[in-house]
Amino acid sequence: MGIISWIVSQFRRPEGWPGHVVGWVMANRPSNRARNLWTLDLLELQSTDRVLEIGFGPGFALEHAARVVSAGLLVGVDHSAAMVRQATRRNRATIAAGRMRLIHADVEHLPADVGGFDKIYSANVVQFWPEPARAFARLVDALAPGGRLATTYQPRHPGARAEDADAMAERIAGWMEGAGLHEVRIARLNLRPIPAVCVLARRS
Ligand SMILES: C[S@@+](CC[C@H](N)C(=O)[O-])C[C@H]1O[C@@H](n2cnc3c(N)ncnc32)[C@H](O)[C@@H]1O
Repeated sequence: MGIISWIVSQFRRPEGWPGHVVGWVMANRPSNRARNLWTLDLLELQSTDRVLEIGFGPGFALEHAARVVSAGLLVGVDHSAAMVRQATRRNRATIAAGRMRLIHADVEHLPADVGGFDKIYSANVVQFWPEPARAFARLVDALAPGGRLATTYQPRHPGARAEDADAMAERIAGWMEGAGLHEVRIARLNLRPIPAVCVLARRS
């Protein structure tokens, strides 16, 4: 495996000590923080919302969501055991208070009791899904009627261009429409080095 593929694999599923470092980078890199906070803003979180994040990494967005969602529930799913440990440390108090639950699982294999969410989001995770149509179908299933889905993407691979973000936004919009979601719209945030896109939609 070349060095670039090895680095990408650590962002796809952080493991061991390199995964620990990658988690630290994700929690501290300004563009990661900005795109996560922007995604939460777009979702207009309410204090009583039931919220699900897919691919929470170090748990930075969940930590911020918990400041607004004071009387609801936050659930996170990530297939990396290293990230479950790191996000658990970051959110220990909220978990102990029973306001947050972190689950070690793949997006396509969510436990049966994971459902009824008002808001579901992910940031820089969709590009790793081998079967996006199946993953979106499962997420739609997990939304409550009227619930909203936000999927954010900022290309970070070597040579990435703004056009890559726009092309992915179109693909995400297609998957969402294919999964039966409505009011699909694309938002764009001018970040450095490459803009981020967020595709939002609603379940009827
Ligand atoms: C590039 S990191 C992004 C982390 C965070 N959302 C952010 O924006 O900083 C991708 C995260 O998604 C998780 N992930 C990737 N594919 C996944 C899947 N199929 N199911 C669950 N988690 C997944 C990885 O383990 C990793 O923690």
